[in-house]
Amino acid sequence: MHLFHGKVALMDYLSSIKTTNSTIGFVPTMGALHKGHQSLMQQSIKENDITVVSIFVNPTQFNNPEDLAKYPRTLDEDLKKIDTINSGIIVYAPTVDDIYEGKTLSQSFDFDGLENKMEGKFRPGHFDGVGTIVKRLFEIVNPTNAYFGEKDFQQLQIIKKMVEKCKMKVNIIGCPIFRESNHLAMSSRNERLTLQERKDAAVIYNVLEGAKSKFKTSSAKKINQWVKEEFEKNKPFTLEYFEIADEETLSTCIRKNKNKKYRAFIAVHINTIRLIDTISLN
Ligand code: PAF
Repeated sequence: MHLFHGKVALMDYLSSIKTTNSTIGFVPTMGALHKGHQSLMQQSIKENDITVVSIFVNPTQFNNPEDLAKYPRTLDEDLKKIDTINSGIIVYAPTVDDIYEGKTLSQSFDFDGLENKMEGKFRPGHFDGVGTIVKRLFEIVNPTNAYFGEKDFQQLQIIKKMVEKCKMKVNIIGCPIFRESNHLAMSSRNERLTLQERKDAAVIYNVLEGAKSKFKTSSAKKINQWVKEEFEKNKPFTLEYFEIADEETLSTCIRKNKNKKYRAFIAVHINTIRLIDTISLN
């Protein structure tokens, strides 16, 4: 593994090992790596000559200071995990200053409305922060392919939109969600759950599966009501939002159109921890 904390040294190293035809696969992360991240790295290794992983807890995408302060930071363990995957992986773990150069602020983006729904509605400024950091990382790493998990499906669509609007030359590749044995979607935030909470959090996926099977015969409105009632029975989990939306535009499903692909999206709080998940419905 080759570790860099500064962008200049990283860029110098990349240009020293790249040839004209080399492909670079890039896996941006905020660390606390789990099996989902590991599978993104494995896919990148398979599909590219060089793989770069970034580990950076990006302050501008957190609307809640407590969430930022409590976000797990486990760099030493992360580096060990990366080394067991492949010793040739290049890791960029920058300081806040290396990225933001004294101005820790987001750029303001227009993602054609994708940013105003669900995560964007409940986490103001979040997607400006994500767009800012991902664009900056792409400028530094200059990847051929970049890999993102589908758990953050709205983020994935927004990054595709940013690449299209900013005319960046990188392929955005969405990868399937990795789940625990009780189907809880793997997430760095799961580290903050107690064992009991982790077990009980199975309710999130169970509700999504329930919604999927109801989607064949019920309206989105009826399913929304059912999900609300399920969470009323499942304290201490509280539902922030549940939404059935068009996979492409993320617009809310009012009346089903058989030519469209739909997805259910959910955000749930357990104490101060916020979990999200998603499932394809048809
Ligand atoms: O999904 C994440 O971990 C983050 O939002 C990302 C893409 C690494 C940007 O900080």
